[in-house]
Order: sequence, then C-alpha cells, then structure tokens
Amino acid sequence: MEPLIATHDLKKVYRIGKVSVPALRGISINVQEGEFVAVVGPSGCGKSTLLHVLGGLTRPTSGKVLVDGNDLFGMSDAQRTRFRAHKIGFVFQRFNLLPTLTARDNILLAQQIGDGCNPHRFASVTAMLGIVDKLRYRPNEMSGGEQQRIAIARAIVCEPKILMADEPTGNLDSENSQIVLNMMRAVNREFRQTILMITHNPAAAAVADRIIRMRDGHVVSD
Ligand SMILES: Nc1ncnc2c1ncn2[C@@H]1O[C@H](COP(=O)(O)OP(=O)(O)O)[C@@H](O)[C@H]1O
Ligand SMILES: [Mg+2]
Repeated sequence: MEPLIATHDLKKVYRIGKVSVPALRGISINVQEGEFVAVVGPSGCGKSTLLHVLGGLTRPTSGKVLVDGNDLFGMSDAQRTRFRAHKIGFVFQRFNLLPTLTARDNILLAQQIGDGCNPHRFASVTAMLGIVDKLRYRPNEMSGGEQQRIAIARAIVCEPKILMADEPTGNLDSENSQIVLNMMRAVNREFRQTILMITHNPAAAAVADRIIRMRDGHVVSD
C-alpha cells in the first residue's frame, strides 16, 4: 500500500545570519493511512521542525515530502496552501481558538480554512469529543481541556487525511491530558483518522500505535 506520508533523507538547516542550525539531519519515514504515530524525544531534537515540514509549513533544505502521492514542495505556495487546507488538520499546544467566537463558530471556521468544506461530521465529532453542551461558550468560559477538544473538533470536522498535533497536552494538567489523549485515540479508531502527534508526555506515547523516537535531528528508533 502506498504510504500517506513518505519522506527520504529529509534535512533542514536553519540559518541565522552566518550561523547554521541543523534541525533535521536525514529523516526517512513512512506513515500509512489510519496509523496513530507519536513522535517523542528531548526538547530541541527537531520534532516540531519535522511536523512543520511534513505539514507543508516549513520548506526543507533537501529531500522531498510526498503526502497522498503529491510532492508538497514541488507545488506553488498557493497550491500548497490549498492542498494543506484540504488534507491536513493542525492542533497546537496553545489551542489557537479565536477569543470572540463561540465554540461552535470556532469549529465552523474549518469551513473557511478548508475552502467551503462540508462539515457534515459536526454532530458526530462534537458528540465524540464530549463538547455538545459547550458549543455556545467562548474560549475564556471553558477549561483548557475543553478548549483543546474544540481545537481538535475544528481540525477534523472537514475530514482531513491527516491530523497533526504538536504537544496537544503541553498546556494541560494530567487529568485533562488523559481525557484529550483518550479522545485522540477514539478519533483514530472511530474515524480511522491518521494522526501524527508530537509529545513529551509518556502517557501520550502509550495511546499511539507506533512511536518514533528522535534525538539530535535523527530518528533513533521506530
Ligand atoms: N525558526 C527557527 N529558526 C532557527 N532555529 C530554529 C527555528 N526553529 C527551531 N530551531 C532550532 O532547531 C532545533 C530543533 O528545534 P525544534 O524542531 O523546535 O525541536 P523540538 O520541537 O524537538 O523541541 C533547535 O536547535 C531549535 O533551536
Ligand atoms: Mg517542539
């Protein structure tokens, strides 16, 4: 089966003035449709850089990224933005909800991000995430765990091929972390949603099917 994400010898060097910071030193990984993959490793080892490159947000210094058979950085910027909006949902540590909008409207923003996608999963996604009775609240009226569940709903309501999450439990206490992780697993199982999740949290790695360990810009185990 052709992998959903494929990359071979991917490298990224950041340049700050005359200083070069190698963040990815040759990463080769494949992710299959339906997998729930956790990427773990110490701070600074390149996890976020990897996610940003695989998600089309940061251009690699060398190496190709194929997503669903498409060469992500062979496209124009406009094509890549459009492609990303259709194929990839993102969740970040800091929720990134709009403070003036209700939970419902924050989730439905996905329609605009996704170019008028049809959020027909709205009812099933909000039920699965346990947020049906939160939909009229604004972010500052909800707990961190609830806000992150809203952010996950927004990321998946338009049925992206891939959900990418960068430290989704990084701002949550252990109880809310566990709730969010259990829901990520449910989303993976129920919707067969492919998930690529970066994390420091050992409990987080335990809900995934596969753990990729990074150190110093390399994959050290998979
Ligand atoms: N935008 C950037 N500009 C310069 N250096 C960066 C940038 N982002 C990350 N880095 C550097 O790249 C390395 C990997 O960072 P990052 O991917 O954020 O690691 P992690 O997410 O594992 O903590 C670190 O040395 C970091 O300082
Ligand atoms: Mg990071």
